Amino acid sequence: MRTQVCIIGGGPSGLLLGQLLHRQGIETVILERKTKDYVLGRIRAGILERGTVGLMREAGVGARMDRECFVHDGTVISYGDDQFRIDFTEHTGSHVVVYGQTEMTRDLYEAREAVGALIVYEAEGVTIHGADSDAAHVTYVKDGTEHRIDCDFIAGCDGFHGVSRQAIPLSTRREYEKIYPFGWLGVLSETPPVHEELIYAGSERGFALCSMRNANLSRYYIQCSLSDSPSDWTDAAFWQELKRRIPGEHADALVTGPTIEKSIAPLRSFVTEPMRWGRLFLCGDAAHIVPPTGAKGLNTAASDVHYLYTGLTQHYQGDDEGLERYSERALARVWKAERFSWSMTNLLHRYPDMSPFDIKMQQADVAFLRSNTQAQSVLAQNYIGLPY
Ligand code: FAD
Ligand code: DHB
Repeated sequence: MRTQVCIIGGGPSGLLLGQLLHRQGIETVILERKTKDYVLGRIRAGILERGTVGLMREAGVGARMDRECFVHDGTVISYGDDQFRIDFTEHTGSHVVVYGQTEMTRDLYEAREAVGALIVYEAEGVTIHGADSDAAHVTYVKDGTEHRIDCDFIAGCDGFHGVSRQAIPLSTRREYEKIYPFGWLGVLSETPPVHEELIYAGSERGFALCSMRNANLSRYYIQCSLSDSPSDWTDAAFWQELKRRIPGEHADALVTGPTIEKSIAPLRSFVTEPMRWGRLFLCGDAAHIVPPTGAKGLNTAASDVHYLYTGLTQHYQGDDEGLERYSERALARVWKAERFSWSMTNLLHRYPDMSPFDIKMQQADVAFLRSNTQAQSVLAQNYIGLPY
């Protein structure tokens, strides 16, 4: 088989890239290791920046998102019982929207199926060959038979545990990493959200986040120990701990109920450089990970898609500048998202080894943010998403 761009990974990066390229008349094949149901069953991000929203519209898949999303003009930050609001619209003239990664992925699958573009599920043993030559190709095994796809370019959209990043020789690749000494326990519950906006909460007992998917579906997270497993946490224990970390006013208003999903994610900052090797371009979690505080993971994947889609489109029009500068442009924005996610994590989490001095520094950071409109403006600009 031959195609123009072989996309490895059918998560949000691969699907969005595929749909945008299709609209430009560029042919793609997507190879996905799992089944469609498995990908749709993963509960992950919930907040979309304006740039991500714009790309969904440009890909022709914005209609349901525009109908069903919730516009958020601000967010609440709390620290113990104290709370304040950061107004995105006042500081930036813009906002974010609540629309789950699951919904975004579903819309993209439907659009791809509607145009009849190929996606191979349960593709095993995906291997990249000759990415640094003019004979780039990808092989994979499906139902016991090996297949080969010759292509102009390979987009490595296969997430943190994928094969694409590993295809770049260690002599070329440089990796930067920070592992945090805690995780997030997340639950989904069919209850009304505790507040109409998100609450990012710091407390003596650790971080908590109150988010949502819709008027009767709440998403909550609490900082937990890396040695915890979801089964250690009964629903009652989860609700009790959440209430202790958010201001009393919200704890009193919290509607609890059975949880329908419970999982633990470790927190990590990670960047690999460069994001291009010959005909291979890394995109999204394949190249970088952020801790989830600040909702930058999915949105940074989308900004990579923007740069790669633009570069590939220009290439087929005879201009290679966008591809030549892809890694540099994507990384410049990635590092800013890394900085923001790291700083918001530090602002609100309890580290196991924090000294009384460290705690005072964190309190001073929060107090400065509370009282300083320029600091609030900096947070708002980062949260709604830096320009592409
Ligand atoms: P992925 O979503 O990881 O998609 C990669 C795809 O490639 C997957 O479908 C995978 O099955 C496939 N694949 C992997 N290896 C291969 C292979 N060898 N061959 C073929 N296919 C392969 N971000 C936030 O902003 N907020 C959150 O709350 C949040 N929660 C998260 C919770 C978890 C547990 C994780 C892991 C991430 C979370 N993120 C969150 C980050 C966000 O979900 C990611 O940034 C986003 O999914 C990145 O999209 P992607 O398409 O680049 O990668
Ligand atoms: C959600 C996750 C985040 O990491 C975040 O910062 C905001 C919202 C969510 O899953 O809703």
